[in-house]
Amino acid sequence: MKNIILFLILAIFTQNNYSQKNYTPSQENIKAREWFKNAKFGLFIHWGVYSILGDGEWVMNTQNIAIEEYEKLPSFFNPIDFKADQWVKMAKDAGMKYITITSRHHDGFSMYDSKITDYTIVKKTPYKKDPLKELAIACKKEGIKLFFYYSLLDWHDDNYFPRGKTGTKIPGRKQGEWKKYIAFMKGQLTELLTNYGDIAGIWFDGDWDQRVGDVHSPLTINWHYDEIYTLIHNLQPQCLIGNNRHLAPLKGEDFQMFERDLPGETKTKFGTKASELSDLPREVCGTINGNWGFNLKDRNHKSKKQLIHYLVKAAGYGSNLLLNVGPMPNGKIQPNHIKSLAEIGKWLRKNGATIYHTVQGPIASNELMVSTKKGKKIYLHLLDTKQNQYFIKGFKENIKSITFFSTGKKVDHKKSNNGLFIEVPKKDQNDIDTIIEIELK
Ligand code: GLC
Repeated sequence: MKNIILFLILAIFTQNNYSQKNYTPSQENIKAREWFKNAKFGLFIHWGVYSILGDGEWVMNTQNIAIEEYEKLPSFFNPIDFKADQWVKMAKDAGMKYITITSRHHDGFSMYDSKITDYTIVKKTPYKKDPLKELAIACKKEGIKLFFYYSLLDWHDDNYFPRGKTGTKIPGRKQGEWKKYIAFMKGQLTELLTNYGDIAGIWFDGDWDQRVGDVHSPLTINWHYDEIYTLIHNLQPQCLIGNNRHLAPLKGEDFQMFERDLPGETKTKFGTKASELSDLPREVCGTINGNWGFNLKDRNHKSKKQLIHYLVKAAGYGSNLLLNVGPMPNGKIQPNHIKSLAEIGKWLRKNGATIYHTVQGPIASNELMVSTKKGKKIYLHLLDTKQNQYFIKGFKENIKSITFFSTGKKVDHKKSNNGLFIEVPKKDQNDIDTIIEIELK
């Protein structure tokens, strides 16, 4: 009993230390949140020296590669085909409004010119250049916003000690000092928010590696989010902070992110329960295939239809979709991924009005349909072509007109006390998404 009380006191104490206590978002931040909510589609990029091994970004952990073995990888990493302009152009043509790229992943390798460590792309690879710098310049030119992914956990740095639950079998990890690790992260975040122009957001990941009360961690584990979030918001007030914790956001965070699952869904082990949903802007992240980092044997490339449905479903939850590609070690993105992105772009050029600048619609999402809303217009996205008739139970709003979004043709419908009945003949259906525009009075 005594232990439980002690644990609770410590948990409450550390939890308080966890967030930016008295955070009130600045005007710039509120404006940035608005922009973010309307943006709806971004490109996630997982790229690091791990891409050489073609086995995902967790390879150091999944193959238990020793620190000194892994340290050889940078010497073969020479992405001479990396062209920032091409990546940004590809994202823009896909209808994406921002890019989130890994600045340092769990392997601890900095993919930018960090001055406070030698373990960087500039100092350790034959490439010697800073791709994030080039990306920042290209993004600015094209009006695409840039976010940095930043890993809280580190399998390489001895100062990431106490260690969390991952990477425990990686040979060569030593015991350092947590305080120094926190100072290091603050130093790197300062670099990232000082040397690359306006940064739209910081995307934290890895908090789940150790939490207050975990058996492997001391009860006092403290990420010092109070200092870290304050630092970020002081350096760039508009910079949006998100943390991939799969839990309700902490004070100081500006958007809530969801990994693979849609908000409130827990189909995967990464899901965030409905009870953890907040009012902050939302972002679902997902992969174009089955991996974040480049995986040579990944054959689970999602189809055009699956990808568009992912985007539409996310929008139906009032959320952005951050769709990931894992570039190859030469700096190129896989051709089939480039093709898929172009196809989504083509679809968005026709149907973007039903996605961008919309909010979650009043018709609840299910496997058959999803709805978005903008002003007096509800966009009902029918994602299944098996039916000709749909009944929307409980639909009570006053309708001005119902038309097919693509042709403007009237949709036969009937409203009763129980709901709305609509007729969608086969010839008016679209194989990917039949969009019905319901204009309200
Ligand atoms: C998970 C993985 C990580 C990936 C992230 C993206 O947290 O650990 O490798 O970067 O998901 O959402």
